[in-house]
Amino acid sequence: MKIRTAIATTLLLAIALPTFADTAAPTPPPPPRRGLGGFGGGPFPMQDGEAIYKGVCQGCHMPDAKGAVGAGMYPALVKNENLETAGYPVGVIVKGQKAMPPLGPYFTDVQVANVANYVRSHFGNKYKDKVKPEDVKLMR
Ligand code: HEC
Repeated sequence: MKIRTAIATTLLLAIALPTFADTAAPTPPPPPRRGLGGFGGGPFPMQDGEAIYKGVCQGCHMPDAKGAVGAGMYPALVKNENLETAGYPVGVIVKGQKAMPPLGPYFTDVQVANVANYVRSHFGNKYKDKVKPEDVKLMR
């Protein structure tokens, strides 16, 4: 019985000690990440392509997707022939390009596919082929 108690105590200590060490020397919290669109560090909650466009993309590309010129140059996505090859917008969204920040870390593959399909089938763009989440995965 005594041995058992000793083993139990050792086990308990082994479990408790690291926990104690953690509380004694807390690791500093990670520095706050600058959020996009007011969603902190992501992931963004919305799933629907339109909702993602409105919540994230239109801040730069404008609600009508006509882009803007001001502090920077935000290209129009309206009737944009660069969107014809589906891999192009997917790559820009996931990896960023020049002044457009990489948004890949904020989105799941499904979210990227949804918003890419949204811009490719709205704003005067009529590309019928659909981006699939698997295509997005390959771009990461
Ligand atoms: C912080 C501002 C910003 C946000 C947010 C943003 N973009 Fe961009 N985007 C840009 C800029 C700036 C460029 C131009 C990059 C360059 O110079 O090549 C660009 C380029 C693009 C292009 C390439 C256009 C072309 O003709 O080459 C696509 C497609 C695009 N963005 C889609 C999106 C989508 C979809 C979202 C939302 C998921 C989004 N962007 C969010 C700033 C932004």
